[in-house]
Amino acid sequence: MKILFVCLGNICRSPTAEALFRVLVQKEAPHLDVWIESAGIGGWHVGEPPDKRAQAAARRRGIDMSAMRARQIAADDFSRFDLILAMDRENLTELRRRAPPSLRERVRLFLEFVDDRDFDDVPDPYYGGETGFEQVLDLTEVAARGLLEHLRRSAARG
Ligand code: 4NP
Repeated sequence: MKILFVCLGNICRSPTAEALFRVLVQKEAPHLDVWIESAGIGGWHVGEPPDKRAQAAARRRGIDMSAMRARQIAADDFSRFDLILAMDRENLTELRRRAPPSLRERVRLFLEFVDDRDFDDVPDPYYGGETGFEQVLDLTEVAARGLLEHLRRSAARG
């Protein structure tokens, strides 16, 4: 199973989701064969490490994002990945627009994996303060657990 997390810039939300989900899988389901990456819709930050504030917030929860580098979504990502998870509805719309029609179903909202959710979007923290980055982690922790359950059920079905 290959999973791609996507946000606008690939320096705040999607690298956070990538890093947190990787740690969760390693800890709780190391037997699952999961490949995880992230990408941005825009190319403004390609090659850059995650935003300092995102790195600091993740570090407070024991997650090191320092070696990550931003990349932009590429046309072949839609065929390479089984699930392309948009961090908000704007990202979802844009990704579905770019996806080949036959692969559009692979593009889904990350927060779909939260039961009884109050939010559809992981709000963009880029222009806000520290609390935005904590909220990204809070939402991502819950959605990552839901996503892991989804993968476990898929694996059990074979
Ligand atoms: P992200 O946050 O999509 O969560 O990585 C953003 C980062 C950069 C920009 C926008 C959002 N930007 O406009 O440069």
